[in-house]
Amino acid sequence: MSNQADAVSSRRYPPTSEFASQATGQASLYEEAKADRLSFWADQANQLEWHKPFTKTLDWSNAPFAQWFTDGELNVAYNCLDRHVLAGNGDRIALLFEGEPGDTDTYTYRVLTTAVKKAANVMTDLGISAGDRVAIYLPMIPEAIISMLAVARIGAIHSVIFGGFSAEALHTRINDAKASLVITADGGYRKGKASALKPAVDDALAGGHCPSVENVLVVKRTGEAIGWNAHDIWWHDAMAAASDEHTAEAFPAEQPLFILYTSGTTGTPKGILHTSGGYLTQAAYTHRNVFDLKPETDVYWCTADVGWITGHSYVAYGPLANGATQVLYEGTPDAPHAGRWWEVIEKYGVTILYTAPTAIRSFMKTGREIPDQFNLSSLRVLGSVGEPINPEAWVWYRDVIGGGKCPIVDTWWQTETGAIMISPLPGVTSLKPGSAQIPLPGITMAVLDDDAKPVQDGAAGYLTITEPWPSMLRGIWGNPDRYIEAYWSRFEGIYFAGDGAKLDEDGDLWVLGRVDDVMNVSGHRLSTAEIESALVGHPWVAEAAVVGASDELTGQAVVAFVILRHSHVAEAEAGDVNKVLRDHVSKEIGAIARPRQVMVVSELPKTRSGKIMRRLLRDVAENREIGDVTTLADSSVMNLISSKLASGAKD
Ligand code: WTA
Repeated sequence: MSNQADAVSSRRYPPTSEFASQATGQASLYEEAKADRLSFWADQANQLEWHKPFTKTLDWSNAPFAQWFTDGELNVAYNCLDRHVLAGNGDRIALLFEGEPGDTDTYTYRVLTTAVKKAANVMTDLGISAGDRVAIYLPMIPEAIISMLAVARIGAIHSVIFGGFSAEALHTRINDAKASLVITADGGYRKGKASALKPAVDDALAGGHCPSVENVLVVKRTGEAIGWNAHDIWWHDAMAAASDEHTAEAFPAEQPLFILYTSGTTGTPKGILHTSGGYLTQAAYTHRNVFDLKPETDVYWCTADVGWITGHSYVAYGPLANGATQVLYEGTPDAPHAGRWWEVIEKYGVTILYTAPTAIRSFMKTGREIPDQFNLSSLRVLGSVGEPINPEAWVWYRDVIGGGKCPIVDTWWQTETGAIMISPLPGVTSLKPGSAQIPLPGITMAVLDDDAKPVQDGAAGYLTITEPWPSMLRGIWGNPDRYIEAYWSRFEGIYFAGDGAKLDEDGDLWVLGRVDDVMNVSGHRLSTAEIESALVGHPWVAEAAVVGASDELTGQAVVAFVILRHSHVAEAEAGDVNKVLRDHVSKEIGAIARPRQVMVVSELPKTRSGKIMRRLLRDVAENREIGDVTTLADSSVMNLISSKLASGAKD
């Protein structure tokens, strides 16, 4: 860290006494949780409405498979909708939808409840029942939320697939979950133009490749021409014909709620499974306390897409369980103009903003002149998620966006944890730029060394979670062994998150990033193995190694090293290898996985046991002096790579 960065990260920002005195989450939460962790969680769970109250808080007898609130019964959608209407808040706005082209729509809790009831009837009429899987592949439009809640309402299981993923990625995920229904749209608006979605579903399903799928519900969003198959049904036709009467049935607390695929260290994405009662408890608890929510007056906006866990917990479930009013924005930050986000904040009077460091860094780069043109004075709490936030970006976020007065909550969590685990409480914690600080009340974590001993004196170690928590993943869909292997085998009885961390002299936690072969690009998780397997799927490529190189804007960027097949070298070198292979990865996985660079090399650095030494490739990708090569099977390989790259092989 530079001296300047050091100076920034040693600043402290205590809450003002005004903020502290009215804060939703008070210091007493830490004491309550410490005194009796399980009864603390039971109290949080009891803020939901249970059709049948639970008597047992945690069953950990079959560890690491947890059961929370196990004999209780509830309906997740009822808790997010009907409950608020019945409490007299039906006229409160749930969703303020802003389309990218500027079209708008407003849903009160009453209107949203009716829409979800209808959608639940549509699904039931299509033969979907409790436990069935429904794949959702939609833009950020109200129908995405309506679909998720309707699936939850009938006890079915959704698997939302990010709209930026390719047909191939869709196909793998639909088949892994054996989804019987797919909900999609003709397209959505992104970067100033209509972007099609339905063709990817058609491609994924073509030739009977997804045999479990019986129907495809299609939302009309852009009105562009699309192909039509016998199993396709227009969403608006089905909704118009559906009854708006629907009684929410109670399901067990451990009823599966959703599967969300995320990248792991191997080539196939993992279907992370979350269930109902514990998940909703922690999503609501964290949303309320971390963001200091005042549901009657706040206008909350989380910029994440529902295709990611942040969109599940902090667009769909947390805010709606808490009866919040939120903005739902369809598009990108810079369309149709660079001030689009700030315009949205001014227009709706957004008070709480939750976004990712990569977005903040790109706004920093374009300069404060743009946000300065808008009135952002309504903001009072700012959140950050997805990757470590560098202290400079933290201070810029606070000063330029937050007018120097808003607390920033840097929230660490994962798809697997379901909800926020580490974060300051904005009315309690004295903030430190760049540090996620401390586990939330009810959460117990430790930074351990290789021998499972707590690290000392600011040394780096592994970030672990030492006790089960309500919104923890319940497993990997269809693969219990992989669940144990991936999270519970590194340390006995302790959850290993895959991140490195250190504790400073105040006991505050600094997340150092992934210690496994998972990259974090613009706050999105990508696996090196998944991209490597896409690359070797191309006829030109014999071998591939992928690394995450540090990148000023996106945190990390994908850099690929490939060895060409002898038979294809001439063809590849005559074409634009870099572009062809980058496009290939986009097509196979999605644009987010597109490498920044593809370097053609004649060898890859390997240990004697054949393991690729990514550390050395990272040195090359980051233009650094190459580190220790003594463990290489052939130490001349790095010279070969460097000389080949230096001899003008274009990147
Ligand atoms: C990283 C996103 C530092 C981390 C919610 C984690 C963070 C991975 C932070 C999970 C943060 C997330 N500070 N790193 N505040 N938040 N990460 O599953 O490496 O998409 O393991 O969940 O993102 O990514 P995922």
